[in-house]
Amino acid sequence: MTSGAYLSGLFALDGRVAVVTGGSSGIGRAVAGALARVGARVVVVARGEERLVETVEELRGAGCEAAWVSGDLGSRGGVRAVAEAAAGVFGEPDILVNCAGINLRPPLGELGEDVWDATMAVNLEAPFLLGQRFGPGMAERGYGRIIHVTSQQAHRAFVSSGAHGVSKGALESLARSQAEAWSRHGVTCNTLVPGFVMTPLNARLSSDPGRVAALAARTMVGRNGLAEDFAGAAVFLAGPASAYVTGQSVFVDGGFSVH
Ligand SMILES: NC(=O)c1ccc[n+]([C@@H]2O[C@H](COP(=O)([O-])OP(=O)(O)OC[C@H]3O[C@@H](n4cnc5c(N)ncnc54)[C@H](OP(=O)(O)O)[C@@H]3O)[C@@H](O)[C@H]2O)c1
Repeated sequence: MTSGAYLSGLFALDGRVAVVTGGSSGIGRAVAGALARVGARVVVVARGEERLVETVEELRGAGCEAAWVSGDLGSRGGVRAVAEAAAGVFGEPDILVNCAGINLRPPLGELGEDVWDATMAVNLEAPFLLGQRFGPGMAERGYGRIIHVTSQQAHRAFVSSGAHGVSKGALESLARSQAEAWSRHGVTCNTLVPGFVMTPLNARLSSDPGRVAALAARTMVGRNGLAEDFAGAAVFLAGPASAYVTGQSVFVDGGFSVH
């Protein structure tokens, strides 16, 4: 067997369909690009059409099959509409990446029910509902990969974790519940755990060179994360190579969490 064929057997996603929420920016965009480049047909989901179009054009320009669905994951109705629209493009997905997320950071004492509800809706309820919509079908077909993007805040308090940290802690538990339910049927469910990644989500923190340097110093690798750092781990968790990895939290954080 050639090394190319061996690598393909482990990692290629030809013939697979992936839905990536939050796929128009930051980590989700890098993950969508990685899955598409190893052969998956990818549907990226977000609200803003401009960045969706840009992302899909870039992927098509690279010879990939990609499409976008615009929708708001902030309400149950919105999630249902997005799910149907996404499944209508290339068919029912084999891979679901829940990367859309928001991090509103009021001090906990000032955190109102509006922020709590908005955070739980996008960060936790949408992944749950999309899992309910797509997980059973994956199990029936005997192959599926569900990947949630959580946060180090699922494991420790960090820069006003507030509702974001709570939602991500629950999301890690959701991955384990899904793994328990569906792994026997070929559907693995895992989480990617970022540390501090330089994306639009962190625009305020990222624009403060002192904070950026201090955070980089807390990693073992010596720098903050980049969206591209998630590409390899996502390809691994989306493909055949990770068939025996399920219910796990995979930290992609340069050693931040163990320093
Ligand atoms: N960056 C970090 O340091 C860091 C650390 C820990 C965890 N994370 C997690 O990693 C994930 C990705 O973060 P990122 O840094 O890549 O963020 P980002 O660049 O801000 O991207 C967020 C994505 O989610 C989409 N989105 C947000 N709200 C949505 C909604 N209501 N409906 C549909 N789509 C929505 C955004 O598009 P639209 O705005 O156009 O809808 C965008 O595509 C998030 O879940 C975040 O919590 C990031």
